[in-house]
Amino acid sequence: MRIFKISIVVISTILFSCSKETKIETKIISPNSAIEVIFNLTKDGQPNYTISYKKGEVIKTSTLGFDLREAASLKDNFKIINVISSSFNETWKMPWGEQLEVVNNYNELKIELQETSELKRKLNITFRVYDDGLGFRYEFPEQKNLSEVFITEENTEFKLTADHKVWWIPGDWDIYEHLYNTTQFSEIDAIEKAAHVNLAQTSIPENAVNTPVTMKTKSGLHLSFHEASLIDYSGMTLQVDTLNFVMKSNLVGSDNLDYKVKRTVPFHTPWRTIQIAEKASDLIESNLIVNLNEPSKLDDISWFKPTKYTGIWWEMHLGKSSWDLASGKHGATTENAKAFIDFSAKNNIGAVLVEGWNTGWEHWIGFEDREGVFDFVTPYSDYDLKEVVRYGKEKGVEIIMHHETSAATETYEKQQDTAYALMQSLGIHSVKTGYVGKILPKGEYHHGQYMVNQYNNAVIKAAKYQVAINAHEPIKATGLRRTYPNTISREGLRGQEFNAWAQDGGNPPEHLSIVAFTRMLAGPIDFTPGIFDIKFDKYKTANQVNTTIAQQLALYVVIYSPVQMAADLIENYEGNPALQFIRDVGVDWQQTKVLNGEIGDFVTIARQERNSNNWFVGGITDENSRTLVIDFSFLEKGVTYEATIYEDGKDAHWDKNPTSLTIRTIEISNTSKEIVKLAEGGGFAISLLKK
Ligand code: NOJ
Ligand code: CA
Repeated sequence: MRIFKISIVVISTILFSCSKETKIETKIISPNSAIEVIFNLTKDGQPNYTISYKKGEVIKTSTLGFDLREAASLKDNFKIINVISSSFNETWKMPWGEQLEVVNNYNELKIELQETSELKRKLNITFRVYDDGLGFRYEFPEQKNLSEVFITEENTEFKLTADHKVWWIPGDWDIYEHLYNTTQFSEIDAIEKAAHVNLAQTSIPENAVNTPVTMKTKSGLHLSFHEASLIDYSGMTLQVDTLNFVMKSNLVGSDNLDYKVKRTVPFHTPWRTIQIAEKASDLIESNLIVNLNEPSKLDDISWFKPTKYTGIWWEMHLGKSSWDLASGKHGATTENAKAFIDFSAKNNIGAVLVEGWNTGWEHWIGFEDREGVFDFVTPYSDYDLKEVVRYGKEKGVEIIMHHETSAATETYEKQQDTAYALMQSLGIHSVKTGYVGKILPKGEYHHGQYMVNQYNNAVIKAAKYQVAINAHEPIKATGLRRTYPNTISREGLRGQEFNAWAQDGGNPPEHLSIVAFTRMLAGPIDFTPGIFDIKFDKYKTANQVNTTIAQQLALYVVIYSPVQMAADLIENYEGNPALQFIRDVGVDWQQTKVLNGEIGDFVTIARQERNSNNWFVGGITDENSRTLVIDFSFLEKGVTYEATIYEDGKDAHWDKNPTSLTIRTIEISNTSKEIVKLAEGGGFAISLLKK
């Protein structure tokens, strides 16, 4: 993470003093000159911006501002008092990630505004323009007439140029676990389309979408809207005006408050971001979101190591066992945990997650009064935590802690210090947290300011005890993993679990070929791939995974996460030759290359493992079969790799024959090309091990 090259150039500082009638235009371009942003004030002194890409308009003139509770809106009557332009270029290192080195190169334009009206309030707007997109944020500088703000709404507009094709989920204040919709912008209907079953809770007050929301224009340009560095602020949904093709920020609120965000001045908002790419695959290679976050605040994170893991988890979702003890089929027993440790140790898997180990599960789903129920230090009587940890150490396998908070935030906050201290004393370095159900205190939502602070504070506190967090039912990822690398992964999408029990048939075959270009742009995903018993008829006849087994393998490469689960039951792995891929595949990458992809159709990603320098390739398709030619020219010249290709069998099909798999081993070099055939709902995985 050492920054080894930084250059900052302040280009100009211009002082303007102008009457409110003067039209000031201020421009900034990306380092490669393709993206241009023009900042402007209207005749009434209202701030606005326009974006173009290679001279073609991408965002039409869109206005900026705020509604406040006590005071007049921060909206117009502004004059520019100062403009500062600068350039920045650094290369920083990810402690673990999709690549080792990240280039962070942008041009910045900071516009300092002041009202000409009585209050003379000040507001700055900063734009950072990169080759792969841009971010802008509002800054409230220290000033006389504004010391505390109660924001009732942020009014950031994104005026689109036409009726683009959009991949979206509803702007739900409480959950991201919706299926993606593919519609024209004019057809977005978040309220109707969100009537899904199996959501733990949902709240969609407006026709709005959540971010990242990704679009494709008629001319083939790809745009994705999101936010970066979400700290002490509410999550942003984007309200849609389907007639005029306009999106406007709609912050997540609280039923208990008459404002959405409360902050003391000075402060700044998160970055509002737009990724711009000609090829869909470039969206995945973009580092805009992490680059817009502050460098790491943690001095030493050597205590966390990326790892594959197994766990006492899928069996609960299948109904083979349960989280609670009272049911009589408790999953988290000492014996079961040891079996997972043995299996992991044998198969090059570094960790085991144990859910349902602690008291409280008898009073979980369906209970209103969940405060004071879960105990994060007391194991059930049939689970010897210390012995399991000891046994794991003996076998070289770490235990992953589990804290299901049941969204009872006060109980969790109170116990965090003791719970994380217990982990530290046992040498446990990561915890999967969960926030299932409606937030307590009542009236708060998962994505509002209150919860944003809960999630961030947990990460900051956990770091003090050398604990990393993988949050489920989280706030969206906004690149904070750069600042707090112990934010290792999160859910925040319809994960594998839905395939076990959703009444709508689970995730359709196209799901992950949309996720790769939407949710995954935000950051690492704990999707929990690797289900081999695709139909699991022994447990459920009405549910199944809607992919082939080859696609399950491909997900270890397609989806990025520094913790990657081999989610299936031990008995479904034992003796299956496909397990070799899970044994071999890396979790921490030197570099990533997106070889091809179209949103909602298919994607192929190649990643080079750190240290070993071996490569792994994963490709997935939607419900359509397709043939892809993989060009291996990305490999190092002159090196021969032993490539094992795991591909859909000739008769494979996600529903009719999902476990049909062919495995072949050949030699591959950087002049090789291979034809792979992906079945309906299928995929392929390749390990390229240096000879
Ligand atoms: C929801 C999580 O997404 C899931 O993985 C976990 O098993 C349950 N909560 C229980 O905490
Ligand atoms: Ca979940």
